[in-house]
Amino acid sequence: MSTAKMFPAPKITTHVLQEMKLKKEKIAMLTAYDYSMARILDDAGIDVILVGDSASNVMAGNTTTLPITLDQMIYHATSVKRAVDRALVVVDLPFGTYQGNSKEALQSAIRIMKESGANAIKMEGGEEIIESVNRILSAGIPVMGHLGLTPQSIHKFGTYVVRATKDDEANKLIENAKLLEKAGCFSIVLEKIPAALAEKVANDVKIPIIGIGAGSAVDGQVLVLHDMLGITQDFSPRFLRRYHNLKEEMTGSVQAYIDDVKSKDFPNEREQY
Ligand code: KIV
Repeated sequence: MSTAKMFPAPKITTHVLQEMKLKKEKIAMLTAYDYSMARILDDAGIDVILVGDSASNVMAGNTTTLPITLDQMIYHATSVKRAVDRALVVVDLPFGTYQGNSKEALQSAIRIMKESGANAIKMEGGEEIIESVNRILSAGIPVMGHLGLTPQSIHKFGTYVVRATKDDEANKLIENAKLLEKAGCFSIVLEKIPAALAEKVANDVKIPIIGIGAGSAVDGQVLVLHDMLGITQDFSPRFLRRYHNLKEEMTGSVQAYIDDVKSKDFPNEREQY
């Protein structure tokens, strides 16, 4: 058993994240979708684990985040939560479960919290979803916002290029960040926007701003675990730092196993009964 499991550190809560912003201590967040990966992240000391709807791409092989269902998100979140002692676990509300109707949004959020034991939910959008955000917050469920490139709206944008490069979109994003803060969101993810704009938002609001492709002046960073470990390699945006080439290492291990089986080297005498 790891020391982290024997001597559990204080749990990361939304209040701890707020204090980290005040102390200018950066927040480290990564995605996870299953027990084994979540356990590694938690033992390593990650602050926030996002059960992202990027599971739709990474785990299920879809080309967008749109197809993943609420039941599938709950399955991923339950597996992750089982592994985690310390990190705050945030779960994406999937596309189609909150945009249309705030009562349905609340039901979706309640299902995630009740069935998975997660600590918070994340929702994409600003003004257009504020009624749903308000209803969920008033039920005592912590909400993380998500502005800038919002992958659930990919069919509206048409591309994954950097967002809010023009003044009108940048001003709208600032307005939306303030609106989400005023509503009571505990944090906001800013995805793929100019660094100067992200810095302005982080200075203008008191809640922690977590960036992905939003520069270094925000309060924390998030990456998709499979991208930063180099398991998935078909996605290489400029903002992604790869810490490993796990795809290559895993391919080598699988090939070595195949060779050992074919050559009858595996199993040897010590590996049998
Ligand atoms: O689903 C996800 O992984 C996300 C991150 C990219 C922030 O929303």
